[in-house]
Amino acid sequence: MQLITTVEEMAARREEWRAAGKTVGLVPTMGYLHQGHLSLAERSRQENDLTVASIFVNPLQFGPKEDFGRYPRDLDRDLKLLESVGVAAVFHPEPSEMYPPGFDASVEVGGITGVLEGAARPGHFKGVTTVVAKLFNIVGARRAYFGQKDAQQVAVLRKMVRDLNFPLQLVVCPTMREPDGLAMSSRNVYLSPEERQAAPALYRALQAAAQLWQERPDERSGPALRAAMENVLAGVPLGKADYVSAADPLTLQEYAGAVPPGQGALLSMAVRFGSTRLIDNMPLEGAG
Ligand code: PAF
Repeated sequence: MQLITTVEEMAARREEWRAAGKTVGLVPTMGYLHQGHLSLAERSRQENDLTVASIFVNPLQFGPKEDFGRYPRDLDRDLKLLESVGVAAVFHPEPSEMYPPGFDASVEVGGITGVLEGAARPGHFKGVTTVVAKLFNIVGARRAYFGQKDAQQVAVLRKMVRDLNFPLQLVVCPTMREPDGLAMSSRNVYLSPEERQAAPALYRALQAAAQLWQERPDERSGPALRAAMENVLAGVPLGKADYVSAADPLTLQEYAGAVPPGQGALLSMAVRFGSTRLIDNMPLEGAG
């Protein structure tokens, strides 16, 4: 496995692989990998000749009061894990390599970036789309792999790829969960033992709303779905919800009343446990 730290070297490999007719899959990460990331790499390995994983804690997507400085990092461990799942190369640039002096461009998607995570974290998605657009250009992959865990990120990136005609396919892989239902996240390490014990409440809340959706299809509404999630979270004093959402999966606008027949819903939430902010979501299919 090659470790590549400069844009120039990554571009040289990209051109070699292109000349050799190899297809490349890209797995963008911020490191401190867990099984969720590895499942993306494994999927990419099945579908492409070569897989490149990027490890870059992107300063642009963190707000001034967020956890950029303390975001967990362990490059040696990450490299071993990526090698074990057959990744061909890891792109691990310094911030100054990605954003050299004079860097002054950005990529921004409108509309769906103004709600949910976008409303709670101003500038976050502009940082994500800017770095992901750069990674797409630098690596030149045919496919790029993201987790459903970041549902809004996926929706925003889909829009960016479509609106700006990036010549690649975005592949979305299921959220990986701990045995008790907690969605895997690099930020789970911040949780105290008590918070960790309480954190699976997010999944239980999503399940409660999904059960309502399945059992009472005639009563599907935004308020009922949100109430089902809020009821579960209310029993967890350690967690404070930033938002609880039952929204149109395409526009991410909240359902104010009944869900139109045949339409799906995206359930999502952000909950704070002390200084740790966890997110989770569950897409619900319209039919049935
Ligand atoms: O999902 C993440 O880890 C990040 O937002 C990403 C896509 C690697 C961009 O920095």
